[in-house]
Amino acid sequence: MPKSERSNVGKTLLLLREIRIHPAFLLIPLSFTLLAAAFEGMGMGLLIPILNGFLNKSFAFATDIPILGKLLQMLPSTLLANDRLVFMTFLGGFIGVYTLKNFLRFLANATMGYFSERCLHHLRKALFAKYLSFGKLFFDTTNVGHHSTLLLQFSQNALYPLTAVDGFAGALLSLIVYLIVLIGISWKLTLVALPLFVVLHLAIKFMITRIKHLSRSIAAQGSALGKKSIEILSTISLVKSYQTEKKEQENYRRISNQKASLDFRVRLLLGMLLPMQEIITLLVVSVIIVGSFYVFGREQIASAPSLLVYFYIIINASSKFGTVSGFRGVIANASGPMDAVLEIFDKEGKYFVRGGDTVFPGLQHSIDFKNLTFSYFDDRQVLQGVSFDIQKGKMTAIVGPTGGGKSTLISLLMRYYDCPPGTLFIDSTDIREFTLESYLGRVALVSQETLLLHDTLRYNITYGLHDVSEDRLQEALKRARLQDFIGKLPQGLDTLIGDRGVRLSGGEKQRVSIARALLKNAEILILDEATSSLDSKTEALIQEAIDDAVSGRTSIVIAHRLSTIKHADKIIVVDEGRIVEQGMLQELLEKEGAFFALWEQQRF
Ligand SMILES: Nc1ncnc2c1ncn2[C@@H]1O[C@H](COP(=O)(O)OP(=O)(O)OP(=O)(O)O)[C@@H](O)[C@H]1O
Ligand SMILES: [Mg+2]
Repeated sequence: MPKSERSNVGKTLLLLREIRIHPAFLLIPLSFTLLAAAFEGMGMGLLIPILNGFLNKSFAFATDIPILGKLLQMLPSTLLANDRLVFMTFLGGFIGVYTLKNFLRFLANATMGYFSERCLHHLRKALFAKYLSFGKLFFDTTNVGHHSTLLLQFSQNALYPLTAVDGFAGALLSLIVYLIVLIGISWKLTLVALPLFVVLHLAIKFMITRIKHLSRSIAAQGSALGKKSIEILSTISLVKSYQTEKKEQENYRRISNQKASLDFRVRLLLGMLLPMQEIITLLVVSVIIVGSFYVFGREQIASAPSLLVYFYIIINASSKFGTVSGFRGVIANASGPMDAVLEIFDKEGKYFVRGGDTVFPGLQHSIDFKNLTFSYFDDRQVLQGVSFDIQKGKMTAIVGPTGGGKSTLISLLMRYYDCPPGTLFIDSTDIREFTLESYLGRVALVSQETLLLHDTLRYNITYGLHDVSEDRLQEALKRARLQDFIGKLPQGLDTLIGDRGVRLSGGEKQRVSIARALLKNAEILILDEATSSLDSKTEALIQEAIDDAVSGRTSIVIAHRLSTIKHADKIIVVDEGRIVEQGMLQELLEKEGAFFALWEQQRF
């Protein structure tokens, strides 16, 4: 069944199943709630004899009350003979029962609070684990602002019905108890009152349908707001340089305003519930007063304590009824966020890249691309019939015009995206058969985009590596020509580098990536434009370190600056997703083809 067509209760149960929490745990708070409702009923029941005795100035009838009378008879007869003492006993009993009821309510709230906080924690945890398992293509097609809103806000909203369920159950149980007491007092009057509750129910139902529709739009606006804020705050330099502050402020204002007015409409609808309930209660009470003339007769009304209790219960019942009916509003209000959360648990559109079961034993001979055709989306083929091999221990260079598909080849090697079966082999085993952990543990990449975390330099350089000794770390810093730079920082390696490394220059960021890759000491080293942000002096120095790291290692180097790949054992020229030439530098130059043209362009 498509998820959007499930009932909201079904969705909540599905959510609980996803986070592996058994709904039976709810029974703990619910049983406290049940007990609390029972004690509340008892308290109400006690009110009648208290009022009766008080108004009639005699408690002689007390021992005749069913059940309660039996209990009273166990008390000493001297006490029973004294009306005042009986009254005090009743009152004491009443206070005791109500205190117990409230203590049970507290226990219900505490256990419910624990349950719902655990649910929320497990939900967030499960969502985060899901996100980490999705393929890169999922993130290419969705927005991080939406995901952040989802993790922080929607996860909580989606659980509202669950956290409110004990309030609902408590009110429902109280209502049942009330109904029993009401029928006990007068079933005829209760029959008169019931249809009016039906009217109240229908009115609430009408509003809830509207809330449900609004909830989806509100969730969409909330997500749009998250998108806008994250996007703009993370590209603030763009905003500053193009002076689009006013425009972005206006965009933000518009979305926030739309969300505010939708939120207001829901509040308005929810706010109408209470007044409506009161008006309908008023009607119920009026009808009952009229009805009671017929049931009890005019004279008896003033002296009928049960009638007072009856009104007291009706007024209470109406507010409990509001909670019960309004609960559907709470559920309806959560339906937008709930759909968004369930969408993450859905397997569709997540572009998983899953490894196989074979442990990668290390490269023996070569990596082979065999007639590989690849497209990110169905619309356009980015690579077409690509075939070439990368020999163990050799340096393979990939060159070609921008947008040709060089980085895409690397992304496939890095298993960011899944390549079609039978197109990429490592020592005649399809790359898809290796476990991701064993394979990627032997590959290091310095990519075109430097990926840095808001933490210290040390944390960034040693990220994902285990047991890095200080000596090895210093060695990697030296080879990446970072030592001087770090030496000048007052806090050295413990300097915070800012969000995404904003406190570093482009060249410094690139050297951090290089140090990270060198430290990994992987047998396959991939460099995608690794030295593009460096000045020629640093580049020359780094080139030495790279040449050093590359020698004897299987390496794949992408470079626009062709001078850096002079020593390559093989050069692959990629243009518009096809391999147009491959061979040694000298061969390609002599051929005077595509590579020669690129080479000539760069000579001037
Ligand atoms: N994540 C993606 N989703 C969809 N299309 C993509 C994605 N990444 C790249 N492309 C497209 O694939 C083509 C090849 O891109 P690729 O990054 O592989 O080129 P490149 O040869 O590395 O270019 P450059 O030299 O500029 O780095 C481009 O046309 C690009 O628009
Ligand atoms: Mg590229």
